[in-house]
Amino acid sequence: MSIQRVLTGITTSGTPHLGNYVGSVRPSVRMSLRSGVQSFYFLADYHALIKVGDPARVQRSTLEIAATWLACGLDPDKVTFYRQSDIPEIPELTWLLTCVTGKGLLNRAHAYKASVDKNTATGTEPDHGVTAGLFMYPVLMAADILMFNAHQVPVGRDQIQHIEMARDIAASFNHLYGEHFTLPEAVIEEHVATLPGLDGRKMSKSYDNTIALFAPKDQLRRLIMGILTDSRAPGEPKSTEGSALFQLYQAFASTEETAALAKAYAEGIAWGEAKQLLFEHLEREIAPMRAVYDELIQNPAQIEKILKAGAEKARCVATPFTAGLRHAVGLRALDSSRSGGPVAQNAKTAVPSFKQYRERDGQFYFKLLDAQGELLLQSQGFSNPRDAAQSIARLRRDGMAALDTLVEQLTTRADTARVQAALEQLAASQEATGSA
Ligand code: TRP
Repeated sequence: MSIQRVLTGITTSGTPHLGNYVGSVRPSVRMSLRSGVQSFYFLADYHALIKVGDPARVQRSTLEIAATWLACGLDPDKVTFYRQSDIPEIPELTWLLTCVTGKGLLNRAHAYKASVDKNTATGTEPDHGVTAGLFMYPVLMAADILMFNAHQVPVGRDQIQHIEMARDIAASFNHLYGEHFTLPEAVIEEHVATLPGLDGRKMSKSYDNTIALFAPKDQLRRLIMGILTDSRAPGEPKSTEGSALFQLYQAFASTEETAALAKAYAEGIAWGEAKQLLFEHLEREIAPMRAVYDELIQNPAQIEKILKAGAEKARCVATPFTAGLRHAVGLRALDSSRSGGPVAQNAKTAVPSFKQYRERDGQFYFKLLDAQGELLLQSQGFSNPRDAAQSIARLRRDGMAALDTLVEQLTTRADTARVQAALEQLAASQEATGSA
């Protein structure tokens, strides 16, 4: 099976809690250890600016989240672990994508619509308090994903629409400029639990009911003792259904241990005793990671170094890829060859076309299609998009003369007359439109 690229981002706007750990960190770290997977994990600090206006909090959260992922076993040698704002190509791609994104598409984004609906309900101006950043959120997220041609994006359910938008945006770009982007898919972990918080509602910062993942041991015990239960006395049978305590325990215990607790519930275990059991289980899993976390937090320079190395690794992909995209849209050195790279086609005037694209194997390819879309030339894979673009440029410029020198790069070649006709037609249409 070909390598699957998996990518996910974590907004640096808070302190990781048990819900983040069970729902995102733990499954992601496990996934990153599988073979046949190339993983990209990043700290979405540009996204944080949309919600957080407090610089110290953004910085602190970035440190805490980076330390959390490392403490939970993410191996920066095995995955690409970086900070979004260390990759200047991300905002650059955001702009290229912005220019092919329908405003109407963004109008339909759930988060934006929720703000508008709230304003409308209170008779306020619809966009009151809405920044352009909130409105553009899905485009920035699309740039995160498309930059690395991710196949799979593990996210929570609330993010599915954003992945669909990334697909739409990628398809618009590909349609206009050739096949540059892989269409990503959301991966929803079906069997990871949504953890309840201290009050029984979903554990969430917005409900203020969270248990910090790396709260000191004493504080962890105190928080657990404060979990809401009903008033059944010791000895009275208790129901596991709807018991936050039980669900939390289940997320950290084996099947047998969970069954044993269910039995204890039926037999009337005292709440205090059940809470003590939960505390011990949590502590068993968390304590070793907390030790690493505490040490990392004391050492921001070490984390900074890891992130900088990760950014370098990420930019080995992002820099050449963005160069190819710049070329594709026409942001080119003025003395570079007049043509080259796929040219936007007017659908009404059917002409042959070059397509440049990236395959699942990570290699860059080009092909020449005739006006009816039939394959005339197919290239081998290139490790670098510029090599593919250069061959296209030579074919455009020198026509059949270039073809003879490029035979070794081609895996498919239709008969000479058809290829020649197509190359001549292309040259003619460029003269006519003056496209460069
Ligand atoms: N929006 C995501 C969240 O809040 C975070 C995020 C930003 C992200 N960029 C991404 C997730 C790219 C996956 C892929 O959860």
